[in-house]
Amino acid sequence: MPTAVKSVLPVVLLGCGGVGRYLLRHIVSCRPLHANQGVAIRVVGVADSSSLLVADDVNSSGLDDALLTHLCAAKSAGSPLSSLLGQGNYQLFRNPEARSKVIDAATMLGRTTGLVLVDCSATYDTVNLMKDAVGHGCCIVLANKKPLTGAYEDFQKLVSNFRQIRFESTVGAGLPVIASVTRIVASGDPISRIVGSLSGTLGYVMSELEDGKRFSEVVKTAKSLGFTEPDPRDDLGGMDVARKVESLYPSELGPDAVSTEDFLESGLEQLDRSMEERVKAASSRGNVLRYVCEIGSKRCQVGLKELPKDSVLGRLRGSDNVVEIYSRCYKSSPLVIQGAGAGNDTTAAGVLADIMDLQDLFQKPA
Ligand SMILES: NC(=O)c1ccc[n+]([C@@H]2O[C@H](COP(=O)([O-])OP(=O)(O)OC[C@H]3O[C@@H](n4cnc5c(N)ncnc54)[C@H](OP(=O)(O)O)[C@@H]3O)[C@@H](O)[C@H]2O)c1
Repeated sequence: MPTAVKSVLPVVLLGCGGVGRYLLRHIVSCRPLHANQGVAIRVVGVADSSSLLVADDVNSSGLDDALLTHLCAAKSAGSPLSSLLGQGNYQLFRNPEARSKVIDAATMLGRTTGLVLVDCSATYDTVNLMKDAVGHGCCIVLANKKPLTGAYEDFQKLVSNFRQIRFESTVGAGLPVIASVTRIVASGDPISRIVGSLSGTLGYVMSELEDGKRFSEVVKTAKSLGFTEPDPRDDLGGMDVARKVESLYPSELGPDAVSTEDFLESGLEQLDRSMEERVKAASSRGNVLRYVCEIGSKRCQVGLKELPKDSVLGRLRGSDNVVEIYSRCYKSSPLVIQGAGAGNDTTAAGVLADIMDLQDLFQKPA
């Protein structure tokens, strides 16, 4: 006997790049699994940088799965959403109207069924939309860490209803890092230290350099594998990991001085020699370089660190992330979370798990 639907979660997705498209595919392919759990995810709108595709009546219907599949194929082929002007129960709005239509949907659904606004973009520009959605009582889920790491007032507003926000994929892609920290804190077990390699991109770059490859070559391969941000300097600058950081490029090659294209074309190669020397010097001492984030009771440090080859962090390969959490309960033997820390599929799976985690807030009345 089919399971009765207990929760319907209307979703508007901002961003249908690598992660956003995987999310839509996961939503479609997980329909039978979710139906068995009595949950239905209704995608009522999808936006890219210039347009919003939205269901005609967001209160009662979503974009159908055939359209979502077609949309993913079109975006993968490099077409904008606005190219999808076929027949269907949806409308297309271009910016700036698209933005106000997202707010309309958030206002309407925030009052009735509720809405999950999902940010899979890679821009700060979504922050006001996310704040508006929170103001209208909507839930938000982010893979995009930028709205959470700008102005402190923005962060405060976004997390003002902590039960209605999830952002697990902003750290360690699909790894349960934030959930684990939240559980430890909630149990009254004080965390004294967190050490980790939290950038899949920089983890990949540092471990590949050990094999004697050139820095420029490794960064370009990381970009082609979808491990980096659209501008890899977002990763290499360390800003993707934290705010007090050692950057892997000098300010003369920064975004204010050199375009992304010029940086990839000629800037990166200028860094090959110095990086090779640092890797060799560490290796002569039996060590490797890792881009490490360390949070203690008094300070937070992020940067390149020389570590023994056989340490937990030294053994890390590829784009894996590792986090060690020390607390009263995990004092001499830390809680270690390790696994793939990048990739569109894994990240989107983490976003989907976050959406599903909100299902109890969308319970249909009996
Ligand atoms: N991939 C990973 O391994 C990973 C891991 C953890 C977290 N993340 C985070 O996940 C997010 C998405 O990454 P990605 O690799 O999918 O990025 P991406 O491929 O560059 O896709 C970004 C998408 O956002 C859209 N967009 C830009 N501005 C927008 C706006 N104002 N409103 C709505 N949509 C907008 C873009 O539109 P157009 O298509 O029109 O350009 C594009 O579809 C990033 O914040 C990233 O840091 C990624």
